[in-house]
Parts: sequence; C-alpha cells; structure tokens
Amino acid sequence: PLPHLVDSFKRKHDYLRISLTERCNLRCFYCMPNEGVQLSPAEHILTDDEIIRLAALFVRSGITKIRLTGGEPTVRKGLGALIKRLDSLRSLGLTSIAMTSNGLALHRRLPELIESGLSHLNLSLDTLDPFRFEIMTRRQGHDAVLKSLDVALSSRGLQSVKLNVVVVKGLNDSEVLDFVELTRHRDLWVRFIEFMPFSGNKWDKSKVVPSAELLALIREQHPAIEQVRTAPSDTARLWKVPGHRGGIGFISSMSDHFCLSCNRLRITADGKIKVCLFDAKEISLRDEMRRGADDDKLLEIVKSAVWGKKEKHAGMDNIDTVTNRPMILIGASNRVR
Ligand code: GTP
Ligand code: 5AD
Ligand code: SF4
Repeated sequence: PLPHLVDSFKRKHDYLRISLTERCNLRCFYCMPNEGVQLSPAEHILTDDEIIRLAALFVRSGITKIRLTGGEPTVRKGLGALIKRLDSLRSLGLTSIAMTSNGLALHRRLPELIESGLSHLNLSLDTLDPFRFEIMTRRQGHDAVLKSLDVALSSRGLQSVKLNVVVVKGLNDSEVLDFVELTRHRDLWVRFIEFMPFSGNKWDKSKVVPSAELLALIREQHPAIEQVRTAPSDTARLWKVPGHRGGIGFISSMSDHFCLSCNRLRITADGKIKVCLFDAKEISLRDEMRRGADDDKLLEIVKSAVWGKKEKHAGMDNIDTVTNRPMILIGASNRVR
C-alpha cells in the first residue's frame, strides 16, 4: 500500500467524506441560505466512475472509512449501485461505508442500501415536534424521518445509528432531555451539535448553546451520567446514562475544536478536495481527471493539498467571521451539505 496521507502536523488521514450531490430535499436554515444556493451545472458533478476512481485512490493511500454526504445523499440517482461499487473497495482496506442523511426519503430504500454495503448511518433530526421541524427545515416530513429512524434501528446490518441534533438557543434547546430519553430503550447515539457559522446561515454567537451548558442540564436530571472513552479524532465526546441502552454525545465545534486530532478529508460534489471544513481553498481533482491525469499525478496533488492543511480552523483566528461555502455545498448531511 501507498504511504498514509500525512500533513505537516503529523496528522494521519484515514477518513474521507464524499459529497454525492449539492441538492437537498430539505431547507434547514442553518445549512442552506434562505435564497437557496447556486447549484453547479450537472456536468460539473462527479460521475460514479470518477467517484469510484478517487475512492480507490484514497483507500489505497490509507483511507479506511468513507462517509457519503450531500446535500442529501439519497437524492443522487443510483445510490445503491454506487455503494455496491464502494463495497468492493473493502479488499483494498476500506472498513466502513457510512452515510449522513436527513432521513426524509430513506425508509423505503434503507434495506437496499444496507444490502449494498452501507454499514453506519447518521440521521439528522433536530426536533421531536413536527411544527418545529417545519420551522427549522422549511419543509414537511417529520413523520418520514421518524420512520427512517425506526427502520434503521430495526435493521440488523447497521453497525451504528446516530442522531445529529443541531442545538439552537431558543429554538430546540428545550428538547434536549426528550432526546436523552430516546436513548433509554434504543440502541442509539444522540449527538448534540453546536451551531456553526457558514455563509448565509444567520449565525450569531448568542444562538450557540455550549456543550458544557447542555451537560450541566442533563446532569441535573441524570446525576450518574458517565463519560465513555472515544478516539481523539471523534467529533463527539460521548456519555451514557447508566441503564440506558444508547448514549449521548456532544459535538463542540465552537467551544472545543478537535482540529489537532483531525483525521478527515473531503471531496465536494463537484470534485474538489477540501482538507478542512473551514478552508476555502479547494483544488479540483475533477479537472485533473478530465484532463487525463494518471493516478500518480492525482495522488501528488492530493498529498500536497493535505500537506498544506492548517493547524486549526483553516488557519483562522476567529471562526465567527467565516466566509465559507454554505454547509449544503460542503457535505452536510449532509447535510452539510
Ligand atoms: P461519525 O463518523 O459518525 O463520527 O460522524 P461525523 O460526526 O464525523 O459526521 P456527521 O456527518 O454526522 O457530522 C456531524 C457533525 O460533525 C457536523 O454537523 C459537523 O458539525 C461536525 N463535523 C463533521 N466533520 C467535521 C470537521 O471536519 N470539522 C468540524 N469542525 N466539524 C465537523
Ligand atoms: N452547524 C452545525 N451543524 C450543522 N449541520 C449542517 N449545518 C450545520 C451548522 N451550521 C449538520 C447537519 C448534519 C451534519 C452533517 O451537519 O445537521 O447532521
Ligand atoms: Fe438540512 Fe442536511 Fe439538507 Fe442541509 S443538507 S438542508 S442540514 S437536510
């Protein structure tokens, strides 16, 4: 195998997020600007063959986990077939095929995706209240997401099911204990995410609920709550209420960034490598492929991009003032994406 993708801070990258589409069937306000986003023309989006070619190159370079994101990944045509092709990269060292989805159009298709090789699922769901769901996502479909969650939890093929909850002050922070309650009888990890700034998402500091505040609140109700060990590269710090089947986690991107142990790389739907979520510098692998670059050339470009990765938050002192792509175009669910 080729050497690992290492940056100048000695971080090894073994986790690749691939955005499959810029489109989404929801309009979450924290992800997508009100006016929508300018979508790339269809021919700018990577084809299945291009995705598989890049995925194989990255897996041969030490990537063991691939997460499919969007936009909303289920919006892409032929998703099952694509997962099946990714599944064949297990012989090269790939161990997980994960997806982050909003669950809106998932419940009917999930069995096929698992059959094709999907091993881990993260679902985005910020509220248990259907009316609030409409406010936050600007769409209907809360019941469909809950259905997807049920199907996921009763599917034997998935190695983990997680819920992503972006907590926004004054909007859904009152539901935190209800979400903890979901973990009592379900084999589910509920992760509370600090609201992050992206272009056009109306972020301001006063809308962030620091994880420490949530933990204190949860502790009042569940004093025996215990921390669970995790890898330093994990985005979440995990906790468990004794006796609960599942657990909870905090993704504290704002109050306690995990950049120093970051192991992630991303490919945008239009084929650019993005070495950090907050780095506006993107290099097009698609253009190189379409110009006829061979794998050695591609790898050289990837390695030099990785080497240029900044120590934290793309080198910004203050991420409160970012001008990044909106999350939808990075790979939110996709999100973020
Ligand atoms: P796991 O592999 O299951 O741990 O998933 P994940 O947390 O890496 O990915 P997911 O798509 O579920 O994203 C959940 C949240 O993690 C997102 O809302 C982001 O806030 C955060 N996140 C994911 N990747 C990064 C990253 O590279 N940097 C930062 N700062 N946050 C990230
Ligand atoms: N802040 C925090 N998390 C976000 N996501 C999308 N936009 C933001 C934001 N501004 C989340 C989605 C999805 C995950 C991949 O990213 O809820 O679960
Ligand atoms: Fe919401 Fe995810 Fe769609 Fe963004 S990509 S609008 S977070 S469902």
